[in-house]
Amino acid sequence: MKNIVLIGFMASGKTTVGKLLSDLLNYRFYDTDLLIEKNEGKSIEDIFKIFGEEYFRNLETKTVKDFCDVDTSVIATGGGIVLNPENIDILRKNSVIVHLKTNDLIIKKRYKISKDARPLMKNQCIDDVLKRYKEREVFYKNCDFEIDLALFQKPIEIAEEIIRKMKERGDL
Ligand code: S3P
Repeated sequence: MKNIVLIGFMASGKTTVGKLLSDLLNYRFYDTDLLIEKNEGKSIEDIFKIFGEEYFRNLETKTVKDFCDVDTSVIATGGGIVLNPENIDILRKNSVIVHLKTNDLIIKKRYKISKDARPLMKNQCIDDVLKRYKEREVFYKNCDFEIDLALFQKPIEIAEEIIRKMKERGDL
């Protein structure tokens, strides 16, 4: 079966929803950030600190290329994976791309609890984070369908909605 790739802004719940989704469907679960951390033996934060963002982006593309042959998997991605359209082109060959669509209110709420582990949120004021989200919105449109997070309370409801939509579209 085709993979399901979750894209979306930082702290939109890709990893949490992805794990639930993989359990519900009995799919394997991968997370590009976790794969990078494992391969490099360093946290994302340290990779950014020591080598910089460009180095991290190259690792993201390498990870996508390494994993493009898997199937029947849910793949949660880092929020910036969409910045290089090549990443999405590669993933799309064998995956349905699902955007977990957030909004300013949700970002504001999650910023407080999520920023410390995220180099592009840490030391950034909320206005800069929201500006980054605005700049990226166009990249997140490069998906097969969106799930509006404002309509759901719990991660399990989001996972169930993804399954419902995929069945409706004939993807499952
Ligand atoms: C990033 C998002 C992070 C991580 C890195 C860069 C981004 O993942 O890949 O800190 O550019 O949006 P999450 O989306 O899981 O926070």
